[in-house]
Amino acid sequence: MGFNVAIDGPAGAGKSTIAKLAAKKLNLIYVDTGAMYRAMALFMLREGVNPQDTEAVERKCREADITIGYEPGENESREQVVYLNGENVNAYLRTEAVGNMASVVSAQPAVRRKLVELQQRLAEDKDCIMDGRDIGTCVLPGAQVKVYLTADSRVRAKRRFDELFRKGQTCDLDRVQADIEERDYRDMHREASPLTQAEDAVVLDTSEMTIEEAAAELMRLCRERRN
Ligand code: DC
Repeated sequence: MGFNVAIDGPAGAGKSTIAKLAAKKLNLIYVDTGAMYRAMALFMLREGVNPQDTEAVERKCREADITIGYEPGENESREQVVYLNGENVNAYLRTEAVGNMASVVSAQPAVRRKLVELQQRLAEDKDCIMDGRDIGTCVLPGAQVKVYLTADSRVRAKRRFDELFRKGQTCDLDRVQADIEERDYRDMHREASPLTQAEDAVVLDTSEMTIEEAAAELMRLCRERRN
């Protein structure tokens, strides 16, 4: 097993931004597992599958070949690319519709089985930082570093609102917060590996922290445990 860092937490806590920063500085591969669930959600949306229909999801799931690769990104970083049946689908993954579908479809055990297996294979012989909802509890229970990253839902909504605003999309802050809370509820209350804090995870509440402060704390933990 390589050196594995597991980051879990609710939507908008800053997991991917912080994990990417730390991965680059510590020379670890960054694996965004949410993007894999989003790719599966995109497939179900395109195929018109009802995400609550367990049998239909299980059947369709077999037709979805999801793999990841790495391509040169901004600032000499390596960007994770998700391929759905050979197509690079990164450009379609970050919409609200796909995010909400991912939250519903990820509650289906067949989807989880398939993606967890892929995630475990990826981490087998590589030093990586993986973020998601069940990484420390289910995907990489033996990870050397486990962090549960969280923040107040209003703060998370404001971050999401600002991100959409920068992309030129207008939305209502209360609506964004309500969506986030609804997604938290679904992710925390589903039967199949719900979002919970691993017993041995370090909790980092980023409500009053900058990205740099949170990343520095994560890197400190990684350096401490890597030696
Ligand atoms: O992190 P994200 O918003 O991109 O994730 C999208 C959805 O996928 C999220 O609502 C819950 C689900 N997910 C999951 O169930 N397990 C993971 N390891 C990662 C994401």
